Amino acid sequence: MNQTSSANEPSVSSSLPRRSFMSGAALAGLGLAGLSSQASAAESQAAQELFTVPQDANGEYALPPLPYAYDALEPSIDAETMRLHHDIHFNGYKKGLNAALAKLKEFREAGDYPQISYWENSLAFNGAGYNLHTVFFAGMAPAGTDKPSAAFEKQISTHFGSMDAFKGQFSEAAAKVQGSGWAILGWQPMGNQLVILQAEKHQNWSMWNVIPIMALDVWEHAYYLKYQNRRGDYIKNWWDVVNWDYAAGRLNAAQSIS
Ligand SMILES: [Fe+2]
Repeated sequence: MNQTSSANEPSVSSSLPRRSFMSGAALAGLGLAGLSSQASAAESQAAQELFTVPQDANGEYALPPLPYAYDALEPSIDAETMRLHHDIHFNGYKKGLNAALAKLKEFREAGDYPQISYWENSLAFNGAGYNLHTVFFAGMAPAGTDKPSAAFEKQISTHFGSMDAFKGQFSEAAAKVQGSGWAILGWQPMGNQLVILQAEKHQNWSMWNVIPIMALDVWEHAYYLKYQNRRGDYIKNWWDVVNWDYAAGRLNAAQSIS
């Protein structure tokens, strides 16, 4: 994947230190903790690179930079939507995740847990939102950049019958999310299986031990400026900007460590 950069890119530096999901609590939440020992060193390195996110100077989660210009996905997704979605909404989940972790640490140190349910809920909501937005933004590329590899298509066909059948179920799941949520293609190590999930908000209707491979955001903030109520048109045009190399890389990495 040859991803372009421009002066329109967000200012967060890609040279920020990386927080490793392989050793972090976030990875444990995905069911990946302890699995790295089963993979070769090269596979572990590849997985490490795909399952990491930037960390700020305080050791907190940072905002992953957009790997292309705001307008790179037009006409499928307009530049203003991308700017607001990445810089404001995604950043909000990052702040919420860091705030929840800090508050829970504060409770532990004090030995007192007021509003514990609120903050545990906030951790799940913002942590899931941060994770899925990481996959969503990295999982797109300018239209025509690439297409599914034969190996990736074969895996999709093995688990869903055909690429068309996969796209049909995934698109329908996205279209029928009640309110705000996601369609997610995930690798489920428990059964060595690819599954499609239809998550509401970020964390509801999910499944333990599933590693997101592709994620399509169908919250209204992802499309309403351009598409208004026409979520189906947004979903149809999103397929034109899928970063298939990224999806295939995540699948390979997930399978190598599980
Ligand atoms: Fe979003």
